[in-house]
Amino acid sequence: MPSALPDGEPVPADGALPASALAGAADRPLGFYLHVPYCATRCGYCDFNTYTATELRGTGGVLASRDNYAETLVDEIRLARKVLGDDPRPVRTVFVGGGTPTLLAAGDLVRMLGAIREEFGLAPDAEVTTEANPESVDPAYLAELRAGGFNRISFGMQSARQHVLKILDRTHTPGRPEACVAEARAAGFDHVNLDLIYGTPGESDDDWRASLDAAIGAGPDHVSAYALIVEEGTQLARRIRRGEVPMTDDDVHADRYLIAEEMLSRAGFSWYEVSNWATSEASRCLHNELYWRGADWWGAGPGAHSHVGGVRWWNVKHPGAYAAALAEGRSPGAGREVLSVEDRRVERILLELRLLDGVPLDLLREEGRAAADRALSDGLLRPEPFAEGRAALTLRGRLLADAVVRDLVD
Ligand SMILES: C[S@@+](CC[C@H](N)C(=O)[O-])C[C@H]1O[C@@H](n2cnc3c(N)ncnc32)[C@H](O)[C@@H]1O
Ligand code: SF4
Repeated sequence: MPSALPDGEPVPADGALPASALAGAADRPLGFYLHVPYCATRCGYCDFNTYTATELRGTGGVLASRDNYAETLVDEIRLARKVLGDDPRPVRTVFVGGGTPTLLAAGDLVRMLGAIREEFGLAPDAEVTTEANPESVDPAYLAELRAGGFNRISFGMQSARQHVLKILDRTHTPGRPEACVAEARAAGFDHVNLDLIYGTPGESDDDWRASLDAAIGAGPDHVSAYALIVEEGTQLARRIRRGEVPMTDDDVHADRYLIAEEMLSRAGFSWYEVSNWATSEASRCLHNELYWRGADWWGAGPGAHSHVGGVRWWNVKHPGAYAAALAEGRSPGAGREVLSVEDRRVERILLELRLLDGVPLDLLREEGRAAADRALSDGLLRPEPFAEGRAALTLRGRLLADAVVRDLVD
C-alpha cells in the first residue's frame, strides 16, 4: 500500500455506502486487509504508510500510539459491520500487512482477527495471513498466532546477501528468514511466503541466485519476487541522486526475472501472477487473488484502501488522525470515488492481464484488440488462451507486462 492518496469526493461521517455498492454483495467474496502502520526503523527504499517511533513523537499524542492500536482498529471493524448492514457474508480472507504487524503483541493481532470473527464470522476455510519481519518473531510468538487462527505467514526476506540487505537498510541477518520458515512450520503454519527483492544497487546475478537458492532451500510454499522500485522521496532515491549508489537498469531487472522463473520453476513453483509463484493452487494467496479479481475488500487502518461493489475509498493517512476520527465516532475515510463502467473495465485489464489466465479479449475495445493481435504475433501473448478468447502473457510478455497492458487498455 504505497503512501500517496488520490483526490476524491468526501466520505460521509457515518461511512455509509451508496445502495448500488451493496447490491448483489452476497454473490461476491469479502476480504479484510488490516494495516499496521509501525516499523522499528524505516528501510531506505520503502514508501509505504508506516511510521517509526521517532517519526510519531509529538504528532498524534496517545492516540497514535501502537499500544492502543488494536482497540482502534477493532472500532473500524465495528464500523464496517454497521456500514455493511445485514450483509450475510462470512469473511473469506484476512490479510494483516504493514508496516510491521509483528511489532504488535501477538495477542493484539489475534484480538483484531477475533473482532472480524465476532462481527462477520469467518468462512470455515478462511485464509488468514500476517506479514512479519524476520527479526520480530520467535517460536512462542508464532505459536500464539497459529493458536489464534492465523494459518499463513509472509516474511520479508528480500535478499540472502549481507551487502544487499545493507543497501536496503534491512536489520535482519542473513539466514534469519530461512530459520523463520522452519519456526513457522514447527508452529503449524500450512502456508509460508518469502518476499524477495531483485535489482538492488550492487546486487549481482550470483547474489540473486544465492537469494533464490536460500529462499527455495528454506521450504516455503510461496515466493513473491519484486523488482526494486526506487520511489520518489525515499532515502534510496536521494542516495542514487547524490551518486552514492548506482541505479540498476531494466535489462538487469529482466535478466533477474528470468533467473527467478528458471530457478523457481525448477524447484516446483509455478507463477500465477507476474510477481508471485506457488507450489500448488492451494498455496496461492487467495487474498491477493480476490483483490486482483475485483472482489469486495475492506481495508482497515490509516491510509488503507477499500473496495465494495464499485465504490473505492481510502482512509486518512496519519495514525493520530485515524484514531481521532474513530474516537469521535466518525468514519476515518478521507475520500472516495464511484467507479464508472469504463474505470472498472480499465482496472480489470490492469490487474487481470498480470494473472496466469489473463484477461477476456471481449473486455478490449477496437484499438486494444488490435494491440492484442500485435502482441500475439510478437510472442507476448500465448496462442492457446488467445484462441479461447483470453489475452494471457508468455514469459517474454511477463517481462514487458507494463508496456503490453498500456496498449491493451486503449
Ligand atoms: C511493505 S512490506 C511489509 C512487510 C514487512 N514490513 C517487510 O518489510 O518485510 C511488503 C513487501 O513489499 C516489498 N516492497 C516494499 N517496498 C518496495 C520497493 N520500493 N520495491 C520493491 N518491493 C518493495 C518488499 O518485498 C516487502 O517485503
Ligand atoms: S520494514 Fe517493511 S514496511 Fe517497514 S519500512 Fe521496511 S519495507 Fe517498509
